[in-house]
Amino acid sequence: MTTPPLRIAVIPGDGIGQEVIPEGLRVLERVAANSGGKLAFAFESFPWGCEHYLQTGRMMDEDGPDRLASFDAIYFGAVGWPGVPDHVSLWGLRLAICQGFDQYACIRPVQLLPGITSPLRNATAGMMDWVVVRENSEGEYAGIGGRNLAGRDGPSEVAIQAALFTEAGCERIIRYAFELAGTRRRKPHRKVTSVTKSNAQQYGMTLWDDVFARVATEYPEIETESWLVDAMAARFVLRPETLDVVVASNLFGDILSDLGSALAGSMGIAASANLDPARRRPSMFEPVHGSAPDIAGQGIANPIAAIWSAALMLDHLGLGEDASDIMKAIGATTAAGVLTPDLGGTATTTEVTDAILTHLQERWHEASSRETRRATTTGEAVT
Ligand code: NAI
Ligand code: MG
Repeated sequence: MTTPPLRIAVIPGDGIGQEVIPEGLRVLERVAANSGGKLAFAFESFPWGCEHYLQTGRMMDEDGPDRLASFDAIYFGAVGWPGVPDHVSLWGLRLAICQGFDQYACIRPVQLLPGITSPLRNATAGMMDWVVVRENSEGEYAGIGGRNLAGRDGPSEVAIQAALFTEAGCERIIRYAFELAGTRRRKPHRKVTSVTKSNAQQYGMTLWDDVFARVATEYPEIETESWLVDAMAARFVLRPETLDVVVASNLFGDILSDLGSALAGSMGIAASANLDPARRRPSMFEPVHGSAPDIAGQGIANPIAAIWSAALMLDHLGLGEDASDIMKAIGATTAAGVLTPDLGGTATTTEVTDAILTHLQERWHEASSRETRRATTTGEAVT
């Protein structure tokens, strides 16, 4: 082995997380096997999730963050299962990692893949190709507030849930969105759309708007717009072709990205990256969907969201070409109609992955035949 293996922490979590993450690992293993020794992974799996909680009272071990900190990346399935309150499972594991490691940029691409029918009547592939950049460290999910006064007479309990907007927090996510827009293919129509509700949320979200306007002046080559979230929800449906990079607060980014995934066919294909762009600690890659108790255990969960998330992980680790091979194999698979029931097909989880692996193999075979032909005609030795 010429290079040390990339160390990946694997947390399948609950429900279909345990079904789709092994599929992503199969794809990663195959990519490594094809690399001729240039790439290797060392996977370490952690059994954290709701079952662990019921046995130990914790969603992850107390030293969990310390153990994860030295990995190159974290590959995560989903958390949540009936019997454990959702806010306990989410805060105890997923949010604990995102916030603990300050993975402040959540990236959620939306693309209508070939062969998939959008619920939008006139949608065509290529028409939907945007990315939601969700602020992932503060905003409405800052976890600030409390519940109290339940002891008074009558229905008396009060709850306060405060949204936190800091100038530094707004600035770093908005700047990330502009940097990302600069790398997108849509040139010359690169655009960043900021989404708030600053007519009603007059403190935090006007701060966001002010920062957006200030940072935008540093990127004169990128078009900008500011939209209110309610109008933006309608625009996702009515004019999806006008979107490029959409930057929004934690809650709005969460909701809008689910809407985007549904428009692109299914939650089962929605991938995400929780990034620490400063690379101080590992970033985490996970399907957007949850543990889907309604279909868990049936072998029909769509593995594409998890496999696409693995591709985002490779891209972050500097393996953009491998990531792009995986994306093309996913596209070839959907184009061929190998689809799970959420996309109207009859394929099982493993059949979809098998098809992706076949298309990957075909791509590599074609590339190496091309290489051999080129070397033969130029008289080079083929190694
Ligand atoms: P969900 O995403 O688990 O399911 C919503 C719907 O989409 C269900 O009908 C499900 O069958 C379908 N679906 C989701 N992923 C699919 C896939 N890969 N293939 C085919 N169909 C798929 O959201 P829900 O039902 O609101 O939450 C279930 C549990 O998951 C809850 O405990 C919730 O807290 C948790 N959750 C966890 C998340 C995470 O770990 N990041 C995100 C969202 C929910
Ligand atoms: Mg969500």
